[in-house]
Amino acid sequence: MHLLETRDLTYVYPGNVTGLDHVNFIAGRNARIAVIGANGAGKSTLFKHFNGILRPTSGTVLVHGEPITQKNIREVRKFVGLVFQNADDQIFSPTVEQDVAFGPMNLGLDAETVNHRVDEALAMVGIEHLRERVPHHLSGGEKKRVAIAGVIAMEPQVIVLDEPTAGLDPKGVKDLIGVINALAREYGITVIFSTHDVSLVPEVADHLYVMHRGSIVAEGRVSDVFADLELLSSVRLDVPVIPKLIRQLREEGLDIAMAYTLDEAKAAFLKTYRERA
Ligand SMILES: Nc1ncnc2c1ncn2[C@@H]1O[C@H](COP(=O)(O)OP(=O)(O)OP(=O)(O)O)[C@@H](O)[C@H]1O
Ligand SMILES: [Mg+2]
Repeated sequence: MHLLETRDLTYVYPGNVTGLDHVNFIAGRNARIAVIGANGAGKSTLFKHFNGILRPTSGTVLVHGEPITQKNIREVRKFVGLVFQNADDQIFSPTVEQDVAFGPMNLGLDAETVNHRVDEALAMVGIEHLRERVPHHLSGGEKKRVAIAGVIAMEPQVIVLDEPTAGLDPKGVKDLIGVINALAREYGITVIFSTHDVSLVPEVADHLYVMHRGSIVAEGRVSDVFADLELLSSVRLDVPVIPKLIRQLREEGLDIAMAYTLDEAKAAFLKTYRERA
């Protein structure tokens, strides 16, 4: 049984606009999954089905093997936490602290546990200093971090992040990579995220889905999917800069191993350099 699964999920928006077209998506335990696709490909529409914000036009969404229903929706939302693409859709309390505490309080936890979770979540995304601030007056990147902290504080088993790095500064992106990796490695949480930054994908994902016009057009290990240049360009996507550079060097005749992350590239370059020295 999968943690989260969609079967032939189709969603048609009012006005007969196809949002999703027979999407089959599987998320296993302790997985790091990226979803990429051009604007309008259907990423946000798919994510809104993961915790029942949108209901399928046809097909099913299974959480822990159970279809989402009116009856289990509260349980589903405890299990799957979603951070929206637009933080303004998610933040509404008068202070950052209250906002992050809102979810855990609604779970009926005692004050001490709630405080502990808020402390941990704020520290994890590096915004302890914003604790007393009015969320409405924060910068875009700061709001984004508040929204992420709010979901982390719920301690769901699956965290879904819609464009989590959009609007973050370079340090913010680096911090977020650390947060996603820690959630998966230390806490065993399954993380699903969408992004337009393809170079981010190998740093934070093991598995990759590619969407185009409401459908999944490719799926598999990150390195396998990024090897298919034709497919990527046919859906208006690019390969990350590291494999692109290495591919070009290989075309020039340099004997160097393929790499996708910065660490892999460093090891590949050093190996080639030392063998030639
Ligand atoms: N509320 C809506 N009403 C009608 N059509 C919508 C609505 N929201 C999205 N759509 C349409 O559904 C399709 C998928 O949109 P979606 O927002 O899921 O794309 P996305 O992959 O998240 O894009 P982006 O990268 O821009 O965030 C698009 O064609 C979009 O125009
Ligand atoms: Mg979107």
